[in-house]
Amino acid sequence: MKLGKTDLGPMAVGIPLHEIKGGDCWVRWMIRRDMPRVLEIENRCFDNPWTEDDFIRCLLHRNCIGMVAEVGDGTSGFMIYELHKNRLHLLSLAVDPIYQRRGIGSVMLRKLTNKLSRDRRNRIMLEASERNLDAHLFFRKIGFKAISVLKDFYDASKDDAYLMQFKHVQTEEEIGASMGTMGKNHWFQVSDDNPQSQGR
Ligand SMILES: CC(C)(COP(=O)(O)OP(=O)(O)OC[C@H]1O[C@@H](n2cnc3c(N)ncnc32)[C@H](O)[C@@H]1OP(=O)(O)O)[C@@H](O)C(=O)NCCC(=O)NCCS
Repeated sequence: MKLGKTDLGPMAVGIPLHEIKGGDCWVRWMIRRDMPRVLEIENRCFDNPWTEDDFIRCLLHRNCIGMVAEVGDGTSGFMIYELHKNRLHLLSLAVDPIYQRRGIGSVMLRKLTNKLSRDRRNRIMLEASERNLDAHLFFRKIGFKAISVLKDFYDASKDDAYLMQFKHVQTEEEIGASMGTMGKNHWFQVSDDNPQSQGR
């Protein structure tokens, strides 16, 4: 993922800024009409921003998905991720600087973590620049862990990146279901080994 920058850019939506919180925001699929606002947020957030062509090239891949976060009557952030067989790969996540620290990034990520399951996609992976301390703190707060260092990850800067991972935590239903399966296997095993189970 890219390197964030910290300059502010004013923007207004229907709700007074000081009243906005993550709970006011909802997340939907990105559509073509969102692109000007997505590019605006991109330019406010990153030192090496993607161009419109970069976004389109990326989103044309069948496994690539774009989503935006809406607050009031405006877009406050976006994320781009890929679907893989066993994992989601977060390519980009950004919240307009004037909406940051209001829980909007967390709401977007919760949308992703809710898609994980024990049997299918069970983790989210991402690369975060070694310089992007805000992102490290944010992802760690959500529950990501740095699992390795990717040397010279960025072509332009040659900066390293941390490979970060969020692993699915089993829900009560999943634990219940796996205990049900374990119980069944256990029962079969006992009945195989137990001479009593041969009957008389
Ligand atoms: C990283 C980013 C998406 C976080 O979005 P956000 O909406 O501000 O995050 P949230 O408000 O949900 O933050 C949740 C928690 O993460 C931590 N956190 C987030 N930003 C932080 C920062 N700048 N400094 C320290 N901790 C931070 C805090 O613990 C925060 O909880 P708190 O506000 O109650 O203390 C946003 O800062 C951003 O767009 N940055 C620029 C682009 C970028 O670097 N993207 C990530 C790499 S692609």
